[in-house]
Amino acid sequence: MAAGTVSVPSRVLLLSLAFLAAAGTAAALSTKYYDKRCPALQPTVRFAVARAVAADTNAGAAVLRLFFHDCFVNGCDASVLLDDGAAPGEKGAGPNANSLRGYEVIDAAKAAVEAACPGAVSCADVLALAARDAVSLLGGPSWNVRLGRRDARAASRDAANANLPGPGSGLPALVAAFRAKGLSARDMTALSGAHTVGRARCATFRARASAGAAGGGEAINGTFAAELREACGGADGALVPLDAVTPDAFDNGYFRGLVERRGLLHSDQELFSGGSQDTLVRRYARDGAAFAADFAKAMVRMGNLAPAPGTPLEVRVSCRRPN
Ligand code: HEM
Ligand SMILES: *[C@@H]1O[C@H](CO)[C@@H](O)[C@H](O)[C@H]1NC(C)=O
Repeated sequence: MAAGTVSVPSRVLLLSLAFLAAAGTAAALSTKYYDKRCPALQPTVRFAVARAVAADTNAGAAVLRLFFHDCFVNGCDASVLLDDGAAPGEKGAGPNANSLRGYEVIDAAKAAVEAACPGAVSCADVLALAARDAVSLLGGPSWNVRLGRRDARAASRDAANANLPGPGSGLPALVAAFRAKGLSARDMTALSGAHTVGRARCATFRARASAGAAGGGEAINGTFAAELREACGGADGALVPLDAVTPDAFDNGYFRGLVERRGLLHSDQELFSGGSQDTLVRRYARDGAAFAADFAKAMVRMGNLAPAPGTPLEVRVSCRRPN
């Protein structure tokens, strides 16, 4: 080989290194990141989440959804937790306004962590741990959380409106929204199993419940549709469990409901409507352990979503505002 040229294999290596660098903080996350920096971190977060869930079971679901809405909007950087500042924040975006909750659970966990380890732990990591703890406290799987995220100094309402899929989405749109984040259709279906806990406002599924009455091609269990119309009456803000089978347990009840056409949101039932995810939904409905294992793996992958290179980052003291 002539001096000064680079062999093909080492060029491939250089390209892979460049790619890893471009992927930003994702490559640097480690389960041991705070072992020396803040040994009390994990029990401290778990205690705060356990207290919140004991006071209000739905707090666990709220925290889990916060993590999804954080990671899908410019990576897991706690941008969703920022109050409106100079620019409008994500809290007021369409998918979040009057809908996302649990901010005070993360505030309490972060305050306890600040007391133990001032200035050391990012809000994004507190949220990643809190989501894991919420799932396991509600009876779901646990997993090792990779840590070392940093927090954004700004949020983007436009990015939140653009990146979060809505409840009217069809299967192709759902697959595309997750594919855009490097997540597979299988990850999407497993992660949608988060709807085994939590509640949705009537406004988010009213069209599906009334289409059920008219037929209308909506794959909905007739008995269930009637129950929903009864539960909602005229109130758009009334809350109904996303999992009609076992509302507050993190199990595979969501998938058992889908097989009976009792998915609450149109987007839920799209996972079992004669399309590519039917087989997987049936499998999760039969085998809760298979769902739990896939969910845990997909949560780790979702948690690896990193902010775009060049995003200004810091470890925020308050999760509600930049330092
Ligand atoms: C696949 C696309 C998804 C769509 C279209 C979707 C949509 C929704 C909607 C419309 C609600 C109710 C909001 C309201 O009542 O205002 C909701 C609630 C919820 N979502 Fe999703 N979601 C999706 C994926 C996920 C994922 C990936 C997670 C977490 C890993 C998640 C976790 C939750 C939880 C736990 C709740 C209940 C929150 C509470 O009770 O406070 N969702 N979702
Ligand atoms: C509709 O739901 C009921 C339970 O509420 C269930 O027994 C029935 O099998 C479901 N129907 C269909 C078509 O899945």
